[in-house]
Amino acid sequence: MIKIRRHLQKDIPYRVKWLNNPNVNRFVGDEVGQKTNLKKAKEWFADYQKVKNKKFFTICDDFKPIGFMGLSNISKHNKNADLFIAIGEDNYHGKGIGKIAVKWIINYGFNKLKLHKINLGVIKDNVPAINLYKSLGFITEGKMKEEVFYKGKFHDFLSMAIFNRN
Ligand SMILES: CC(C)(COP(=O)(O)OP(=O)(O)OC[C@H]1O[C@@H](n2cnc3c(N)ncnc32)[C@H](O)[C@@H]1OP(=O)(O)O)[C@@H](O)C(=O)NCCC(=O)NCCS
Repeated sequence: MIKIRRHLQKDIPYRVKWLNNPNVNRFVGDEVGQKTNLKKAKEWFADYQKVKNKKFFTICDDFKPIGFMGLSNISKHNKNADLFIAIGEDNYHGKGIGKIAVKWIINYGFNKLKLHKINLGVIKDNVPAINLYKSLGFITEGKMKEEVFYKGKFHDFLSMAIFNRN
């Protein structure tokens, strides 16, 4: 059963594993394909604990952590935030878990944080992610051409968003 809980210090080694998984890191991060390490992950977590504009969660299969997701740049003023998700364990891809998790965090953003809009950025080649976001009501707001460099090629990048119309 899929459970979602707060992202905790004990998840740091999983972050390293997941962010170094080539099936994940080719699609995530400011500079995709970059490796991380325990030191960087610990620094990230220490910063995370200090700020109020990020809320991250660990996605678990019962008690086994399998991925993480979060909202960053949460703006109380603009009532918006940026969404991130990664299912870090390959054998959990394509089983409906991303959909459950993104639905959960949209609900959290709109109903708990009272956001008006949730933004995300996605590489145009990331068809599973784009299909997932579209299936939940995200629309494409813009395309940045040749924005991301990965494995010798520039890739287009899409800005997507969902609005709270209730
Ligand atoms: C993108 C990601 C979160 C999707 O999660 P998932 O659990 O694999 O996806 P789901 O099984 O919940 O599928 C949800 C929808 O995505 C789409 N989808 C999933 N896998 C797909 C595939 N291989 N091809 C096309 N569409 C796919 C479908 O629309 C599916 O909905 P449907 O089953 O109702 O048709 C996950 O694959 C992942 O973490 N990938 C690596 C990191 C990443 O790309 N993060 C997003 C960065 S923007």
